[in-house]
Amino acid sequence: MVKLKTISISQAAPELKDMDMSQPLRSRIASLGSAFPDRVMTNHDLEKIVDTSDQWISERTGIRERRILSDGENNSDIGAKACLQAIERAGIKAEDVDLIIGCTTTPDRWMPSLASTIQAKIGANKCTAAYDVLSACAGWMTGLQIADSFVRTGQYKNVLVVGSEALSRFLNWKDRTTCVLFGDGAAASLIQPCQPGDPGEILEIRVRADGRYGDHLDMPGGGSAMPPTLESVAAGQQFIRMNGQEIYKHAVRNMASICEEVLEAQGKTIKDVTWFVPHQANMRIIETVGKKINIPLERVALNVHKYG
Ligand SMILES: CC(C)(COP(=O)(O)OP(=O)(O)OC[C@H]1O[C@@H](n2cnc3c(N)ncnc32)[C@H](O)[C@@H]1OP(=O)(O)O)[C@@H](O)C(=O)NCCC(=O)NCCS
Repeated sequence: MVKLKTISISQAAPELKDMDMSQPLRSRIASLGSAFPDRVMTNHDLEKIVDTSDQWISERTGIRERRILSDGENNSDIGAKACLQAIERAGIKAEDVDLIIGCTTTPDRWMPSLASTIQAKIGANKCTAAYDVLSACAGWMTGLQIADSFVRTGQYKNVLVVGSEALSRFLNWKDRTTCVLFGDGAAASLIQPCQPGDPGEILEIRVRADGRYGDHLDMPGGGSAMPPTLESVAAGQQFIRMNGQEIYKHAVRNMASICEEVLEAQGKTIKDVTWFVPHQANMRIIETVGKKINIPLERVALNVHKYG
């Protein structure tokens, strides 16, 4: 959960030497970019692949369609596109970027990182560092927390945090309990230093993990515990597995409580929030969290129906 002031784009990156150093250095989201594959897969398309229906998917999840990478198109392609849009909107050049944090569970390859693949694709050739954060749904938020910390120390000035996934490549298209939920897409944000009160300032970030529940949503094969073999691949061990009901319970409980924690830390109430932008996993989760924290749907950003 992150709380922002209004986001303003196309402001030039401030020079550290021009900033009032008697004030603590803060970080801001200077711009956002996004990219999706062109290929649309609707619920009706899925009806032809697995035993499901548009009605079941829509009622239980709110999803109507999702984007799927085409053959030959990769995670880094959409990630790079999102980054270029964020760079352009911030009014900087790719070579001004000094750190790229790739947030993904589905990198093109395990090595090199998705971030360094994107670095090469966007021509961020003076970029000093590029690495990945492997934190699934919490990936972008975790990357943002790292970027915020670095920017506030003055170590980096233009940090790209790019959340980019190719989940369709790890779906079992015979498993109706998972394949209807996920899609592919990328979103990038450019994080820069700012002074307290500047537009787009990041006020508070909270990230939580609880590894005890790791088996409820996982990809068992393909890692070092179960390297890919003919047998593991034939058994589909590389695919996403999910215990939907457990995920639902934890998502609702923890998303609501972390929002309350952020508000309390800032001495604010939900009335002070203009927009609530939750993780777009599932409409029912979003509605329940919205009710728990008492924010009407008119103030909730939604695109789960289009992207899954
Ligand atoms: C996944 C989710 C929508 C399933 O809804 P649910 O109400 O818990 O459904 P259940 O798993 O209890 O399944 C109910 C029935 O629907 C069936 N079903 C499951 N997927 C189906 C599908 N795609 N189409 C049709 N029927 C389906 C089940 O087999 C079950 O049938 P049965 O009663 O004959 O055994 C729900 O658990 C959920 O939203 N979980 C959160 C998951 C999530 O957001 N994950 C993403 C994290 S990024």
